[in-house]
Amino acid sequence: MNPKPLQFMEQRLDVLRSHHLYRQLRTASAGSEAWLTIEGCPILNLSSNNYLGLASHPDLKAAIAAAAIEGGGMGSSRLIAGSSEQHHLLEGRFAHFKRAESALLFTSGYTANVGVLTSLAGPDDLIFSDELNHASIIDGCRLSRACCQVYPHADVAALQALFASSVQSGHTGKRIVVTDTVFSMDGDRAPLQAIADLCRRYDAILVVDEAHATGCIGPGGRGLVAEANIQYAATISMSTLSKALGSFGAFITGPALVKEYLINVARNFIFTTALPPAVIAASLAAVNVLEQQPALVEQLQENATFFRAGLQAMGFNTLTSSTHIIPILIGDSALTLEMSGELLRNGIFAVAIRPPTVPANTARIRTSIMATHSRSDLEYALSVFERVGKRLHLL
Ligand SMILES: Cc1ncc(COP(=O)(O)O)c(C=O)c1O
Repeated sequence: MNPKPLQFMEQRLDVLRSHHLYRQLRTASAGSEAWLTIEGCPILNLSSNNYLGLASHPDLKAAIAAAAIEGGGMGSSRLIAGSSEQHHLLEGRFAHFKRAESALLFTSGYTANVGVLTSLAGPDDLIFSDELNHASIIDGCRLSRACCQVYPHADVAALQALFASSVQSGHTGKRIVVTDTVFSMDGDRAPLQAIADLCRRYDAILVVDEAHATGCIGPGGRGLVAEANIQYAATISMSTLSKALGSFGAFITGPALVKEYLINVARNFIFTTALPPAVIAASLAAVNVLEQQPALVEQLQENATFFRAGLQAMGFNTLTSSTHIIPILIGDSALTLEMSGELLRNGIFAVAIRPPTVPANTARIRTSIMATHSRSDLEYALSVFERVGKRLHLL
């Protein structure tokens, strides 16, 4: 029997179970690789964000091993004694990669989004946020205490209407638009050029989350801002190191003034310990690999195009995906869980994504493709999807 003050937790968990929304940790080894092992069985991994396979790249492993001499943690925040030459070097290398004036490291993509939004916006400001933005953006908006107005997914006309009504109502504070560039559960692209045009017209700040775009799309993997050739100077961009770059942490890139401002204002930059030497070394190695091997990015998108076309030809609904994130819409949470379990029993790891991660009645299998999947891996996956889809009467 759990202590009385904690019993509300049991009740909440029971509700989640009854709605097929209960979550459990599962043990996997080589969990970021194209093939992982669960309970001793090799399983094809269609659920990793290690899109380029860099997490186990020999250069990253060697860099981590070489950094071992510096030991474990940094022991203090960047503003105390935790800012090593390597931190500055990495920021400079990444800014160069993104063709940005500056880059500032954060300890994760989650903290970077929260840090930026809470530093830019306050109670007098307006944030316009896409309805499918990542949870870290939603939390950043809430914590900022700004007035957050959510616009329908990728709907430029609705965003324009929000701008117009803010002018009509005489809003005098800042206006900020925040959007994922590649949406993490739908795998589609934000209409970035049109959004940037609106921001320019209304003097708004544009904050973009390139977590699933950096290293994956655009010239050399420089993201959607580069692909769409966005030239709007008040653009602030977040990139994670934890996904395509196979490491950990995140960057904010943008004008040098933004970096200077965040160093002085962002509470979750100021009041947290600096990223450790091994992470910085791995990240530096990842940026080098990415610059030297842009073909990895092309391979990733070639694999994604092949896999998406195969699913669509069978009749699966892949929503508006145009990237390496390919959802298979099921709708019902219980059925989605059943499909994920059936895929696993047939050697495919593809997780069920359910509300609240996605809107009600849009539960789906989310697949993420890697550059390190071979053509025969993807053909195998397609054959299993077809078999399971037919068995569950989804096809
Ligand atoms: C769109 C998006 N933004 C931010 C994050 C957070 O990044 P991190 O895992 O580095 O905290 C994620 C990852 O889950 C994401 O999908």
